[in-house]
Amino acid sequence: MQNNKRSNLFTRIENWFKERIDVYEILDSFSSLTGFLYTELDKRLDIKDAIEKALKKPVPKHVNWMFCFGGITFLLFIVQIGTGILLALYYKPSPENAYESIQYIMNEVRLGWLIREVHAWSANLMILALFFHMLRVFFYGAYKSPRELNWIAGIFLMFITLTFGFTGYLLPWDQLSYWATTVGTEIAGGIPWMGKYILYVMRGGENITGTTLSRFYTLHVIVLPWVAAVFLGTHFLMIRRQGISGPL
Ligand code: HEM
Repeated sequence: MQNNKRSNLFTRIENWFKERIDVYEILDSFSSLTGFLYTELDKRLDIKDAIEKALKKPVPKHVNWMFCFGGITFLLFIVQIGTGILLALYYKPSPENAYESIQYIMNEVRLGWLIREVHAWSANLMILALFFHMLRVFFYGAYKSPRELNWIAGIFLMFITLTFGFTGYLLPWDQLSYWATTVGTEIAGGIPWMGKYILYVMRGGENITGTTLSRFYTLHVIVLPWVAAVFLGTHFLMIRRQGISGPL
């Protein structure tokens, strides 16, 4: 009875759409258009082989769910790029405007609050997934020869990810950001011998000012994404070359 009601509702919705637009016809013409484009591209670039090679590579039997954490970390990184670009459309990196532009994103921009929350949550989840990925690699001994270089590339990726988090934290330019950056840079300042120079370079002076905000913003949206792309490319190339490590 319940099921019958539900299927009636679906049929009515389907009919409503059918009377107005023929979804199936649109889908049909879309697939023949993409099919046409694909055939023409393939004639010139011979991409079919490369795509088949990439997609039809068999997954070894010992690979289980724990091998997913690297991929999840990467997926969250892509989410960060997408939501980060959307936030950058409205964020203003200056001491006078930063805080207000965040308020504007939260209260005025359509779905701005959601984009910002997804960016913040995905940043935290990325660090969590990264941590589980490292644990998996460590306990499977996947860092051993011939994958030592990939472990080292991974260490760079870990620092890049943490620096993304640290630099991003200052950008809202509120009390929490200000004091977190004060503490963070002071910790770096405690390094023997060169600590005070590091602190000076990080802050762009003695104190946290607009210069610090500019530096952190530049790192967060220009330098780190490109450096991460290079290390991710290297990481994936090496995985492709060496294949996934064996069973325990
Ligand atoms: C943004 C950060 C990272 C991303 C997106 C990433 C992504 C991946 C992916 C997709 C794989 C394939 C197998 C799997 O997922 O387990 C992999 C493998 C590997 N990763 Fe990462 N990774 C990152 C950071 C790290 C870190 C921090 C380390 C260690 C310090 C590391 C070391 C390795 C090693 C040694 C392998 C080869 C494992 C094997 O062959 O079994 N990665 N990574």
